Amino acid sequence: MRFADRMKNLGTETAFEVLAKAKALEAKGKDVIHLEIGEPDFDTPKNIKEAAKKALDQGYTHYGPSAGLPEVREVIAQEVSKTRNIQVTPDQVVVTPGAKPIIFFTIFTLINPGDEVIYPNPGFPIYESVIQFLGGKAVPIKLREENDFRLDTDELKKLVTDKTKLIIINSPQNPTGGILTRDDLKAIADVAISKDLYVLTDEIYNRIIYEGKFETIVQFPGMQERTIILDGLSKTYAMTGWRLGYGVMNKELAYYEARLMTNSNSCTASFSQRAVIEAITGPQDEPKKMVEEFKKRREVIVKGLNDITKISCKNPKGAFYVFPNITKTGWNSQKLADHILTDAGVAVLSGTSFGRFGEGYLRISYANSVENIKKGLDRIRAFVEEL
Ligand SMILES: Cc1ncc(COP(=O)(O)O)c(C=O)c1O
Repeated sequence: MRFADRMKNLGTETAFEVLAKAKALEAKGKDVIHLEIGEPDFDTPKNIKEAAKKALDQGYTHYGPSAGLPEVREVIAQEVSKTRNIQVTPDQVVVTPGAKPIIFFTIFTLINPGDEVIYPNPGFPIYESVIQFLGGKAVPIKLREENDFRLDTDELKKLVTDKTKLIIINSPQNPTGGILTRDDLKAIADVAISKDLYVLTDEIYNRIIYEGKFETIVQFPGMQERTIILDGLSKTYAMTGWRLGYGVMNKELAYYEARLMTNSNSCTASFSQRAVIEAITGPQDEPKKMVEEFKKRREVIVKGLNDITKISCKNPKGAFYVFPNITKTGWNSQKLADHILTDAGVAVLSGTSFGRFGEGYLRISYANSVENIKKGLDRIRAFVEEL
């Protein structure tokens, strides 16, 4: 095969590869506990499923407008206006199959070859992959454990150059569970305004918070026109397989991101979109219950990991991941993650799956039952204590 040169720059999301490896081991008869994948283990709430079934019967089985069904964009605009305390109109909303395309489309629309994008590291691997794939220069900002995995705003100021065009932030964060404070966000907003930068704020975990309330960078004066909000239903409503996400941005940008939808997907599945209306405007007890459950699991996993000599783990403030420090094992992250899967039968990710500053850590998802988490912890403990 003679591939296009650009393909060598495309990265990946290791969680899917580890999942495949774990499934292959299971097929050979090995018992594996899955703590690798970032999706709620709950079923989608019944009322949302009923809404999609009804939509199918009503004939929402055809193409729709590329930017999303008008009534769905309207509901999202109202929801985002309310939760972020800003005024959003439906023409600022682009509905996408999952929230991931918003990362791709935003970088595609804004970044010329050589433009610099500052992004969190460790961070969601797709940011770095897409920046590099599209010819941008990926400039990592290190998230440090001693700073509760929040980015250091003084460091951010130093990383900005004449070539910087976009800053990507993610709070609550994957993989660390860290949260940016209101002061952090204000300081980042000041940098963005003074240097005339755009900000892509990945808020996919905004409802999965255990302490304090959600804060967004878009709330600060002068930010709305330069901010792209990424959000969606995958995590909040346990709807990862439905592929429902959206971006909220200024109208000019929305026009181009919708055009990218026309060129790539045509539109997000119509009956799937109709379920957004029920998810957002219907009862919210189920997502609240999920967060309560995650909170209990968080306690179990953080305590269990801290009980293992050679491992220490901060209490994450949001999302459903822990990012324990494994440096005292003397092993590097990838080797430890590999052996925990093949020898101990627990699928976890190396911190380096989230960038080079993830060395010294594992990422463990606690979107699994307390019973499985405890079993997984026992196996990890038995393995690590033997090292
Ligand atoms: C930080 C972050 N952003 C975006 C996404 C993508 O979400 P979706 O499944 O809606 O495409 C994920 C999913 O793992 C994520 O962790």
